Amino acid sequence: MLDNAAQYLKEKIGDFQPDTAIILGSGLALLTAEIQNPIIIPYAEVPDFPQTSVEGHVGCFYIGTIGKHKVICMQGRFHLYENIDPRVIHAIMCIFQKLGVTRMIITNAAGSLRQDMLPGSLMLITDHINFSGRNPLIGTQKHPKFTDLSQAYDLDMRNKIKQIAEREGVKLYEGVYLMVLGPNYETPAEIRMFRNFGADAVGMSTVQEVLSAVSLGIKVIGISAISNLGTGMTDDRPNHEEVMINVAESIESISLLVKLFLEEN
Ligand code: HPA
Repeated sequence: MLDNAAQYLKEKIGDFQPDTAIILGSGLALLTAEIQNPIIIPYAEVPDFPQTSVEGHVGCFYIGTIGKHKVICMQGRFHLYENIDPRVIHAIMCIFQKLGVTRMIITNAAGSLRQDMLPGSLMLITDHINFSGRNPLIGTQKHPKFTDLSQAYDLDMRNKIKQIAEREGVKLYEGVYLMVLGPNYETPAEIRMFRNFGADAVGMSTVQEVLSAVSLGIKVIGISAISNLGTGMTDDRPNHEEVMINVAESIESISLLVKLFLEEN
């Protein structure tokens, strides 16, 4: 799957071997400005590559350097609710691995399940719950590998970004991200259930990429930009405009943390 895309990207970047992949969630494109001498490749140019269909999710690869690292950044990701086959997400992770990627930084917008974690907050993902009922590894491995997820979000990378956040005075919550399939927002009953499950944030992305990356031996950290409180936790009704406006509050701090992380590690 996506063999032509892999070949195209390889030809475009030549000897440049990215070590770090970055996936930018809804409205979190600011970080692309930190990438030095970027080669920008619109997804539309890449053979067989799917297109993103959601407002606020532009589709381009940015390939360049931040600090001493060579990065490949996806501005605009694919969601299962766009009718994307989870195996496509695995194929993209396989391309990253083939290009030389050994670690990945993933960002997303998420709804908070905690009254104290308000819109505009950042949450470092410590663990996840796959509530999507889907898995990118099904149908992609000849013999199923039973991937160990006891530390899906790399502890060493997490500790490093926590230290940076503390030093820079950026409040970084920590918590469990639960993935729903979407595209609807949750019912109040679902939000109550997810809170009882022990989840701290809910969103429609990230988990598929993480399952795939971890199975390929790529180390991962994830940061959620909290865009709203879960349905029923306030009188406000979640909506995409509110999500985008509140994510905008976090883009500077999230970009700063990722930039400093790459410059220092
Ligand atoms: N639910 C699911 N996904 C989301 C939300 C939410 O409340 N906010 C941003 N992405």
